[in-house]
Amino acid sequence: MNNDEFDVKNWKETNILTDSLWLINERDKSGKHANVYHGNFVPQIPNQLILRYTKAGETVLDLFMGSGTTLFECENLKRNFIGFDINQQIIDFVNSKMIDTQDINFEINNCDVTNKEKFDSAIKNQKVQFLIAHPPYMDIVKFTDLQEDLSHISDLKLFLDKFTQAIGNGLQYLEKNRYFAVVIGDVYKKSEVVPLGFYVNYAIKKKFNVKLKGIVVKNIEGNRGKIGVNNIWKYRALKSDYYIFKHEYIFVFKKEF
Ligand SMILES: C[S@@+](CC[C@H](N)C(=O)[O-])C[C@H]1O[C@@H](n2cnc3c(N)ncnc32)[C@H](O)[C@@H]1O
Repeated sequence: MNNDEFDVKNWKETNILTDSLWLINERDKSGKHANVYHGNFVPQIPNQLILRYTKAGETVLDLFMGSGTTLFECENLKRNFIGFDINQQIIDFVNSKMIDTQDINFEINNCDVTNKEKFDSAIKNQKVQFLIAHPPYMDIVKFTDLQEDLSHISDLKLFLDKFTQAIGNGLQYLEKNRYFAVVIGDVYKKSEVVPLGFYVNYAIKKKFNVKLKGIVVKNIEGNRGKIGVNNIWKYRALKSDYYIFKHEYIFVFKKEF
């Protein structure tokens, strides 16, 4: 992994990806990255984004921290971290991995990010320089039994309302002219594709004064749920009339307010 500070003067040497197609076939399993949480993202995603959009000593806000992939990258890259999740079990797991950490400041909050009052009181007016959001893809993977968990929402409009509420809560604390990224995939419902990525992107553009700077398509080769059963999926896809999802999106926005 590249631990250097990104400087455009060194553009020829940098490992930072600048194309909109990211083919990442080997998950980074080094250090604290354990790949224990169904629905986590590959560490290369936050690594690339943090390197490109922040400097050492700045703070990254992760609205849906999950198993701490972004936090562990922040630690590797010497960025501070504020993370939110509502799954206490995974919060305990992440905290247990951070017992000896001294190099960065980090805070983990058990909080429903759609609840503005609770969000504001947890973040205590701290400003951040980058925001990342990797929410549940509606109800395809259930995370907790809690009512506020976005992974219980099967209705598209409700999901978009709640998700953009969470983004709005976070954006208040992102400094002006800084960047944020949403990592999301599409879903199947009632025998058809619901292009959740497109809807989320449009909902954010409609609601906030932000510029869309990139739509990155990333492969989902070697996903845990699919390993060893590729042939079954191929058979099912051919027998029916659909294509297997092999990609998800990383939308990168710049906040202009
Ligand atoms: C796709 S996972 C994020 C995975 C993470 N990027 C990782 O690498 O482990 C989504 C997370 O959102 C959390 N979540 C769902 N609804 C939430 C809410 N209303 N507020 C905060 N977190 C929520 C879930 O508990 C889950 O951990």
